[in-house]
Amino acid sequence: VDLEKIAVLSKSTNAISVCDNTFASPYCQRPLEHGIDIVVHSATKFLNGHSDLLAGVAAISGYAPEGVVDQLRFLQNALGSVLSPNDCAILLRSLKTLPVRMERHFHNAECIANFLFENQSRLGIESINYPGLKDHPGHEIAKSQMHGYGSIITIVVDGGLKRADAVLQRCSLFHFAVSLGGVESLIQHPSSMTHAAIPRKRREEIGLVDGLIRLSVGIESMDDLIVDLEQALQY
Ligand SMILES: Cc1ncc(COP(=O)(O)O)c(C=O)c1O
Repeated sequence: VDLEKIAVLSKSTNAISVCDNTFASPYCQRPLEHGIDIVVHSATKFLNGHSDLLAGVAAISGYAPEGVVDQLRFLQNALGSVLSPNDCAILLRSLKTLPVRMERHFHNAECIANFLFENQSRLGIESINYPGLKDHPGHEIAKSQMHGYGSIITIVVDGGLKRADAVLQRCSLFHFAVSLGGVESLIQHPSSMTHAAIPRKRREEIGLVDGLIRLSVGIESMDDLIVDLEQALQY
């Protein structure tokens, strides 16, 4: 997504622009610097990175329309969405390793995406979605506004639900679970898990087909991760 274009468009229509930057993390992408008004993060994911707390962040630009900060403060106070001292301490400790973790996350993900791309037909993969791949439609934009391309990869395997299920069951280093952004690699099936509530027709219109698998690439040994995926994808 071209953040600068969205920021210009939203200013020209007096709208407030909001970017969910969870997948990228502030280490890989900083939407406020591209003119976005509000950036939200699920800090449960990369910011914490160890899958052991729930937290969220809303960062508001100094150029955001007047009143936005007060409105959000009011909501936070009224709803009571305030982090506990212990969660704050865990999160602050995690933030100290954010750059190191992110470098490893996206290096691993880039290597895995390239491996899957090079072995696509042998492994029965119909498509790979990762902005770091040169043929990804958003590659040039991502290259200009990101540092690294994050560590979320989706693939569509041939054979639909049956094959996707077999791949998920065969993985061992990639844990079969939702969530993302932790140091451990996860694999999940969006159409029956995170996005199951969306009606099938709509899911298919937006590419959430039964063969779609989502990987959250962690910081384990890249070679071990590739071996795990290769054996899971082999017929
Ligand atoms: C992109 C994105 N934003 C926000 C959220 C919400 O996160 P939380 O569960 O920490 O509220 C999620 C959760 O999966 C997510 O993937």
